[in-house]
This record gives sequence, structure tokens and C-alpha cells, in this order.
Amino acid sequence: MLIHQYGAFYFIIFIHSYIHTFIHSPMSELQSKAPTDSDTTITELMIPSYANFGGKIHGGILLSLMDKVAFACATKHAGNYCVTVSVEEVDFLQAVEVGDLVSMMARVNYVGNTSLVVGIKVTAENVKKRHVKHTNTSYFTMVAKEDDQLVTVPPLLLNTMEEVRRFAEALYRKKLKKYYREQMKEVKKNDLNELLTLLNDERCEVRLK
Ligand SMILES: CC(C)(COP(=O)(O)OP(=O)(O)OC[C@H]1O[C@@H](n2cnc3c(N)ncnc32)[C@H](O)[C@@H]1OP(=O)(O)O)[C@@H](O)C(=O)NCCC(=O)NCCS
Repeated sequence: MLIHQYGAFYFIIFIHSYIHTFIHSPMSELQSKAPTDSDTTITELMIPSYANFGGKIHGGILLSLMDKVAFACATKHAGNYCVTVSVEEVDFLQAVEVGDLVSMMARVNYVGNTSLVVGIKVTAENVKKRHVKHTNTSYFTMVAKEDDQLVTVPPLLLNTMEEVRRFAEALYRKKLKKYYREQMKEVKKNDLNELLTLLNDERCEVRLK
């Protein structure tokens, strides 16, 4: 009788660990995917309602489109819905005009365990002049999630030196971000008088009450 009970106990443990291994399969068991497998492009015409008072396209419109293309690209790679965690290098150095045809080209640059970085190149084309300008390249970190649980994403298969470069650059950005965060924590520890000395040559007026 006792032997039977132990047998059932070990059987349950075996089944439990089997299911656990199956559900939480390590990254190496997932098949790698090439960045090109999830390449995604969105092209949209910039209509007058997207413009600001200066007649140029609102940055928020472009950000929203970038978020959409990042979501689509990350979800294709992950095979799971993803959420946006962080956005890096959003610098709009060239204005986008009403009538421009904006294209957002997204590609997975890097994968971690549950996160992935999608690089997005944004161009704006003046169709009449046949002139294309590169307005910005930004990086969206997305995380795969299901039922509020993080999900492991497939590894990235790097087929070209360009893909290796992008992966390595994303790693650098990740490390630099960590370093920046640590530095900001130190800055926040500064005494207020020390912070005030930083403002000496700045264009502000301090009138503490
Ligand atoms: C992102 C989120 C899942 C992180 O949850 P967490 O419990 O802190 O999880 P972890 O610390 O284990 O991080 C999970 C992954 O996210 C990455 N991550 C977490 N915070 C990050 C940040 N600020 N920047 C970049 N990556 C980040 C981690 O590096 C990790 O990646 P890895 O698995 O590839 O190593 C959680 O904060 C969340 O769900 N945020 C809301 C996201 C959302 O809804 N966005 C839509 C816009 S509102």
C-alpha cells in the first residue's frame, strides 16, 4: 500500500516536471529565425489632419506608426503578442510634410530571453519630386507576453555581417542604458546645493520660496 502511494507521488512529480519543461522550454529548444523572416514595412500618406500648426507632421503621429510596425515585426518573430517596453533614439532631424509618403521599415536587430529590439528606419518620400529623405532610425524594445506571463522568444539567426553588427550595437545600447541609469541614480543622490551650482551658466532664474 505504502509502495503504491510512493509510486503515485513520484508519477505526479514526473508528470509535473515534464509539463513544466514543456511549457517553459529554454531558448535553445526554440528554432532560430532570421531577421528577414519578420521584416515589416508600413507605408502611409501624410494627410492634412496629421499636421501641427506649422504645417509639418506631428511627431506623435510618426511615433504611433513606429509603435505599430514594431509591434507587428516583434509579434511575427516571437509568434506571440508583444508589448512596448522602451524606445531609444527618437530624433526627428528632418521635418515630414503633408503629402509625403512615409515608410517605416522594421527588422528584429536583437533578441534576449523574452525581449527583442526592433530597429525602425523611417523615410519620407516627396512623390512629385521623387525625393526620399531618411528622417530617423529608432529602436523599440518589445517583450513577448501571454496572459500576463513573459514568453521566451526564438533566437536570432544571423546570416550576414550587417546582422551581426546590428545585434552587437543593440547589446552596446543595452549596456550603455544600464550605465546611464546607474549614473542618474548617483545624480539623484546629489545635495540640492550641488545641483544649484550646475545651473550657474544655464538660461534659468532660480527664485526659491
Ligand atoms: C516590460 C515588463 C514585462 C517587464 O517586467 P519585469 O517583471 O520587470 O520583467 P523582467 O525584469 O524579467 O524583464 C523582462 C524583459 O524585459 C526587459 N526589460 C525590462 N525593463 C526594460 C527596460 N526598461 N528597457 C529595456 N528592456 C527592459 C528585460 O531586460 C527582460 O529582457 P530579457 O527577458 O530578454 O532578458 C513589464 O514592466 C510590463 O509589462 N510593462 C508594461 C508594458 C506595456 O504594457 N507596454 C505598452 C505601453 S503602455
